[in-house]
Amino acid sequence: MNADPLAHVRDLFDLDDDVVYLDGNSLGAPPRHVAERVRDVIRHQWGGRLIRSWSEGWWETPERVGDRVGRLVGAAPGQVVVADSTSVNLFKALMAAVRGTDRSEIVVDAGTFPTDGYIARSVAELTGLELRAVDPERLDVSPATAVVLLNHVDYRTGRLLDMAALTAQAHAAGAKVVWDLCHSAGVLPIELDRLGVDLAVGCTYKFLNGGPGSPAFIYVPTHAQADFHQPLTGWTGHEAPFAMTPGYVPDPGVSRARVGTPDIISMLALDAALDVWDGVDLKDVRAKGLALTAHFRSLVEGLPGVEVITPDSPWRGHQVSLRHPDAAVLMERLVERGVIGDHRPPDVLRFGFAPLYNTFEEAERAAAALAALL
Ligand SMILES: Cc1ncc(COP(=O)(O)O)c(C=O)c1O
Repeated sequence: MNADPLAHVRDLFDLDDDVVYLDGNSLGAPPRHVAERVRDVIRHQWGGRLIRSWSEGWWETPERVGDRVGRLVGAAPGQVVVADSTSVNLFKALMAAVRGTDRSEIVVDAGTFPTDGYIARSVAELTGLELRAVDPERLDVSPATAVVLLNHVDYRTGRLLDMAALTAQAHAAGAKVVWDLCHSAGVLPIELDRLGVDLAVGCTYKFLNGGPGSPAFIYVPTHAQADFHQPLTGWTGHEAPFAMTPGYVPDPGVSRARVGTPDIISMLALDAALDVWDGVDLKDVRAKGLALTAHFRSLVEGLPGVEVITPDSPWRGHQVSLRHPDAAVLMERLVERGVIGDHRPPDVLRFGFAPLYNTFEEAERAAAALAALL
């Protein structure tokens, strides 16, 4: 194996070497310095500076941290804000995408993460549009389609969709696309600007290590901002929030995607966590993620009763999903043995590999533990 250019990054994380943590696709591990930074925020910014901190940087945190996330997803500054949860951002994005349309349907990835499907259903009901679930690998977009909602990486199988081809296909039919990047942000180089993506959302607590429930992000490209009329017209998306006027006038830029007061402590924990990406090349992350998952796959493929459901091709994220009838019990036993992945019902075992901190030796330890159980 070639030298790992990311080997030193693991030292930046607070990890127990006795545990093999393969669930960074659900909750990323904490970078070591985050605890101290949060302590500083609480003691010196909230304490100390008190309310003055709002005008000493807090107010602009959603846009400032948004730009940092933007760098990781191929968005130039001024197009990403960090705010709310992915679910809420999906609602904003879909409602804005279908507003004023004369088309009649929303298309959603049939295997989507549940929240995406539920939110799309609400948007369809609120707007009177039809909701059609499709297999994204056989996407059919028609002149009736207003918007297509796709998960870049499938949370269950790890399959990666071709963002370039599917975005182009939707656009050719005059439809918009909203991409959910929860399982791809921090996994591979993404080119939102270059591909002309209409809107994208994603979470920051998986591969971006922002911490449990850390705020999500939403991408609204500059050219689409004037037409982005989202339904949650809270005061912080107003062009002049402190004018306190009765009428809502959206901010002219990406700040119109904001709703209410930002959750500063969580957002600054994410800000600190993003420091580990400084100097990291996403191409290295991708190469190591593919190598780690290939290595693990090669070790578990022949195990009794195991079916690998993650694509063998590079069209996959950084997880290996296995089907086994006793998946739930197996994962419980693995966790007892210090190998932490997760189980998705009914029969899927997921092992997520975070190239910033997972090692090839950990892949071997996890595979050996599974083999011993089987
Ligand atoms: C693809 C996808 N979308 C959305 C979510 C969750 O959204 P929220 O952060 O609003 O709970 C997840 C969580 O795992 C996810 O995998």
